[in-house]
Amino acid sequence: MSSAVADLERVVKEIAEEMRQRTDRGEPASYIPELANVDTGSFGLVVIDNDGTVAAGGDADMPFSIQSISKVFTLTLALGKAGDRLWKHVGREPSGSAFNSIVQLEYEHGIPRNPFINAGAIAVTDRILSGHQPKEALGEILRFVQFLADDSSIAIDRTVAESERRTGFRNIALANYMKSFGVIENPVDYTLGVYFHHCSIVMNCRQLAMAGRYLAHSGRNPATGHRVVTPERARRINAVMLTCGHYDGSGEFAYRVGLPGKSGVGGGILAIAPGKASIAVWSPGLDAYGNSHLGRIALELLTKRLGWSIFGA
Ligand code: DON
Repeated sequence: MSSAVADLERVVKEIAEEMRQRTDRGEPASYIPELANVDTGSFGLVVIDNDGTVAAGGDADMPFSIQSISKVFTLTLALGKAGDRLWKHVGREPSGSAFNSIVQLEYEHGIPRNPFINAGAIAVTDRILSGHQPKEALGEILRFVQFLADDSSIAIDRTVAESERRTGFRNIALANYMKSFGVIENPVDYTLGVYFHHCSIVMNCRQLAMAGRYLAHSGRNPATGHRVVTPERARRINAVMLTCGHYDGSGEFAYRVGLPGKSGVGGGILAIAPGKASIAVWSPGLDAYGNSHLGRIALELLTKRLGWSIFGA
C-alpha cells in the first residue's frame, strides 16, 4: 500500500471517529415528516480517489435520502438533452437566499437563479419531462443515477416522495408561480411528481461517491470507462456546485471546505476534488441553511488534512 493511500485511509477513519464523538449534531429536516425521525447519531464518509482506492469510515453503507443532491444528476441529464439552451430556463448565479425561497422569482420574471435552488431544479425537471410521461422521465433519471454509480440496485423511497407531496406547499407555490410566467411547460402536478420522486432516491455514501466520479475526472467515470459529459461540461457543473451548491451557505462552504459540493436535506453532501477524488459524506443533522452540520465540518477537516482545497493548502 502506498503512503498516500495509507494517509487517506487513516484521515477518513480519524474524521469518522471524531464525528462519532461530537455532541453538536444539528437537527434533521422537519418539514418533510418522513425525514424528521431520522437518527442524528449516524455519520458516514467515503472517498474514492484517482486510482479507485475507496476509503470508508462510519456508516458508509447506510442508505439515506439524497434529496437535493439529485439536482446535480438532473442538471447533467438536462444539459445532455437541451445543451446550452437549458440556460434560457434557469440561471447560474448564486441566489444568496434559502433553497425554497420565492422572493427573486417575481423580480426575475419566473426564471430561477440557478439549477440547485428548488425553483431551478423544478424548472430543470420540467425540461427532462417535456415530451415524456412522468413515469418515463422518472425512469430515465433513476437509470441515469444507476448508470453513474454502476449499481442497478439504487431505488426510490416512495414513502418519502409521498410524504413530500402531501406537505410540499412551498414547492407547489414555486411551480405554480413559474407556470404563470410560462417557465414550466408541463402540468405542474406532473413536474412536481417527478421532482419529489427524484429527490427521494436512496443511496449510501459508497454509491454516491461512485456516482460523482465523472465530475472528478473530466467527465469520465474511470471505473466503468464511460464518458458521461465533456471535460468542459464537467468543469462547468463543478463551477455551479461551488457557487450555488449550498444555497445561502455556499460562500461559507467555499471558504471552509474549498471544493465544489452539493448538499441535500437528507444530510448528504457530494463534494468533488477535481482530478483527485469524489467524496460523499452523510450526517442527517442540519445547520440553519439546511446543509449537513457534521458533513460540512468533516469535509473541512478532510480538505485541510489532505491539502485538497481547490484554493491551495
Ligand atoms: O424540495 C425540497 O424541499 C426537497 N426535496 C429538497 C431540498 C433540499 O434537499 C435542500 N438541501 N439542502
